[in-house]
Amino acid sequence: MEKNFKRTTVTAALPYANGPVHIGHLAGVYVPSDIYVRYLRLKGKDVLFIGGSDEHGVPVTIRARKEGITVQEVVDRYHYLIKDSFEKFGISFDIYSRTTSKTHHKLASDFFRKLYDEGKFVQQTTEQFYDEETKEFLTDRNIRGECPRCHAADAYGDQCEKCGATLSPEELINPYNAVNGNPLVKKQTSHWYLPLDQHQEWLEKWILEEHKEWRPNVYGQCKSWLDGGLKPRAVTRDLNWGIPVPVEGAEGKVLYVWFDAPIGYISNTKELCDAHPELGSWETWWKDPDTRLVHFIGKDNIVFHCIVFPAMLKAHGDYILADNVPSNEFLNLENDKISTSRNWAVWLNEYLVDMPGRQDELRYTLTANAPETKDNNFTWKNYQDCCNNELVAIYGNFVNRALQLTQKYYDGVVPACGEQTDYDKETLAEFADVKTKVESLLENFKFRDAQKEAMNLARIGNKYIADMEPWKVIKTDPERVKTIIYISLQLTANLAIAFEPFLPFSSQRLREMICMEEFSWESLGSTELLPAGKQLAKPSLLFTKIEDDVIQAQLDKLEATKKANEEASYRAKDIKETVTYEDFQKLDIRVGTVLECERVPKMKKLLKFLIDDGLDKRTIISGISQFYEPEQLVGKQVLFIANLAPRAFKNGLVSEGMILSAENFDETISVTTVEHPVKPGSQVL
Ligand code: MF3
Ligand code: ZN
Repeated sequence: MEKNFKRTTVTAALPYANGPVHIGHLAGVYVPSDIYVRYLRLKGKDVLFIGGSDEHGVPVTIRARKEGITVQEVVDRYHYLIKDSFEKFGISFDIYSRTTSKTHHKLASDFFRKLYDEGKFVQQTTEQFYDEETKEFLTDRNIRGECPRCHAADAYGDQCEKCGATLSPEELINPYNAVNGNPLVKKQTSHWYLPLDQHQEWLEKWILEEHKEWRPNVYGQCKSWLDGGLKPRAVTRDLNWGIPVPVEGAEGKVLYVWFDAPIGYISNTKELCDAHPELGSWETWWKDPDTRLVHFIGKDNIVFHCIVFPAMLKAHGDYILADNVPSNEFLNLENDKISTSRNWAVWLNEYLVDMPGRQDELRYTLTANAPETKDNNFTWKNYQDCCNNELVAIYGNFVNRALQLTQKYYDGVVPACGEQTDYDKETLAEFADVKTKVESLLENFKFRDAQKEAMNLARIGNKYIADMEPWKVIKTDPERVKTIIYISLQLTANLAIAFEPFLPFSSQRLREMICMEEFSWESLGSTELLPAGKQLAKPSLLFTKIEDDVIQAQLDKLEATKKANEEASYRAKDIKETVTYEDFQKLDIRVGTVLECERVPKMKKLLKFLIDDGLDKRTIISGISQFYEPEQLVGKQVLFIANLAPRAFKNGLVSEGMILSAENFDETISVTTVEHPVKPGSQVL
């Protein structure tokens, strides 16, 4: 199975140029791919790292409408902002281009045309929603209407945000154009489809049999798509932004963004190779079976990279297919889903301003919490811990000790190594071992564990120097200290290599301090990286502590976002239909005193009340346990409906009435109570 490839083409998903990039992007795709590529380069492998912005599709058009600027302005703004953020975080793309480039338009257009000419598409006519005033067909997201399930007034064509139902636009009641409110009509339109059903067989064999080594999340998602049976997918859209469908009579139609974007990897490779003939032809990087193709993506991109794009490549012929598609799950922020629309994110461009010079600190934290196998969480507290307790206290501390002692005792010149003790030898041997460990982890895309191993090296160094106590030994046995420092310096140089893929900025600073111009992965584990007699530069701190107030400022920023969102999302609900006084009188609302209150085993949301209703005791069940500790409510007088028909719960509990509570705008609950104590059983009139 292990094939010896001659070169590797690494792609990282092309982010939509509809907004800045955030830590979720970095953790999910760009840091891991960058680590991998830096590692391969350090090993002297031939590798190209291809990136770029995805500038077509609906998301950029929505952003343009929102901001009241043209789509071109949107993609220009964000393409450069994103490119700049990636550069500043050391994401070492060989090219970062864009899908609006000439090269891409031509390549994607030719790609489509070849498939079209060879009859690889099927054409189908369907009815779609159409705005007669603006003369446009609408995409699911741009259609709104009443939810058929919960009757919320403004469900989207693909989903109701209120009740979470997955919808199709046909199901909406009174669909309208989300942008201008116009009512919509159905109109026929014709599109080209990639008949994925015809690709089912080879895809099954290729993925399910030949790529069992793909990450379980990737393999599992593919399997469930394949098991469900693949269906034809439209590869064109009615839209006025994108690459025109290169077929006569297809005016007003463009290539579907998911058709053109992955071709962007190829176009960007071409653009790069055309400008740098020494890299060889772009075709070598995409067509030679000795090239290994690896796509780094987020989990919402799996089907496109594992099924749709390979089917496109296969239909075209000549192309190699992905050897692996390492995909991450999602990263949450402070236990809440990262969301662009709710501004719930740490934006890279803002981080760069707020935390200048601390790119490695973020890279480190994100890799330490990489959502490799399940969703993971970023918290500022954990970020601070990673920085202070690991980067500063372990890696930085060790390096600083080794370098400062070299300055102090030997004016910064590497001392000669004397005879080594067993402990010296063991320490060096442990360093040598790490190389193979880190390698096998990186080759299996286990970046989190690989970084842990690198940090373990620093731990070993730290322990070594703490155990050896050269600052004491110097008084009794100065010759021995030379050996201790010599060894510590070799460990330091090793750390600079081991951390290079993960923390390129600090690794570079460290290499400057130890004047190590040349280095390679192969020399990792060597005990002779810094020869005796070598003059080192003046050391400075590799990492500095992050104080509480800096973290607090970030938390405050998030808190302010949360407040703003809550207030923005609060809209008083419409008043219900009018009822008569007689109707109202049918309800018997009374005051009861809470005698007992307890949680209900196995039913997380529920509280069970025993109420004195003035005549008797009654049990009432209420779903408010998230908001109260049961004992807070004992003794309280609450309003309840006394004549509500009893309601049975799953586990046999019966609720004899209902406690009245108010739902606050942030969806927290507050029980109602009376202003003065009254006798239990008093009626509310
Ligand atoms: N723009 C897409 C997203 O952000 C990713 C495109 S990846 C590519 O989800 F394959 F299309 F390039
Ligand atoms: Zn709904």
